[in-house]
Amino acid sequence: MLEVTRLVAGYGKVEVLHGLTFSVPTGQLVTLIGSNGAGKSTTMRTLSGMLKPTAGRITLNGRDLTGLDSHAVTRRGIAHSPEGRRVFPTLSVLDNLRLGAYTRLTGQRTRGDVTADLERMAVLFPRLRERRHQLAGTLSGGEQQMLAMARALMLNPEVLLLDEPSMGLAPLLVEEVFRIIRQLREDQVTILLVEQFAAAALWVADYAYVIENGHIRIEGPARQLRNDPAVQAAYLGRGH
Ligand SMILES: Nc1ncnc2c1ncn2[C@@H]1O[C@H](COP(=O)(O)OP(=O)(O)O)[C@@H](O)[C@H]1O
Ligand SMILES: [Mg+2]
Repeated sequence: MLEVTRLVAGYGKVEVLHGLTFSVPTGQLVTLIGSNGAGKSTTMRTLSGMLKPTAGRITLNGRDLTGLDSHAVTRRGIAHSPEGRRVFPTLSVLDNLRLGAYTRLTGQRTRGDVTADLERMAVLFPRLRERRHQLAGTLSGGEQQMLAMARALMLNPEVLLLDEPSMGLAPLLVEEVFRIIRQLREDQVTILLVEQFAAAALWVADYAYVIENGHIRIEGPARQLRNDPAVQAAYLGRGH
């Protein structure tokens, strides 16, 4: 279980997160929804160690992660698939995936069978299997997004942080991304999902938090939020 308590973070003197408290129970899919600029990506960056919190606590299964750098956080098993599909463009699809497993081979976590996990990714992401020898930079945007997700999964993470996995994708690929997220949920991968399509996120998630201006305003089972008139009016109307 990932537990975040009164987390404060920002950029320089600008405080963006004003004391967030939330948790992601093991095996569950939790979504964080909110308008542009609400602080969703900043939350993800703080959890992954890219940003240092100025107050509050982050623990994973009771162990303190607060203030660790991103390498140390990755070694503890938190995988971040950041906004905007970061892949290594001059490496092949297969080498990108192997790099995703690298940290788990050097850390204290169980290594597991990398070959078996590569096979699992090939089943989960058939488009990547067909293109495994292609350079990542020559993939379409949607394929790069899937590669970023698959690479994060190669860490065999305790928690997967998915930031806007459907951003900028054509509708068919958005469906494909959500098919994969549903599959990961069935496989009980622990996931924190940030999504612009709040409606879709609330359909796949177990539990949801609404963030506004760096504060958690509403939380509850995803089904309950889907039916909440205030959430519907603000986040599930046209354009969402
Ligand atoms: N690298 C940065 N430097 C300074 N301010 C930033 C940076 N990234 C984001 N912000 C600011 O932090 C706030 C929250 O941004 P962000 O977390 O990206 O929101 P969201 O992901 O919810 O759209 C915004 O006001 C944004 O302008
Ligand atoms: Mg964002």
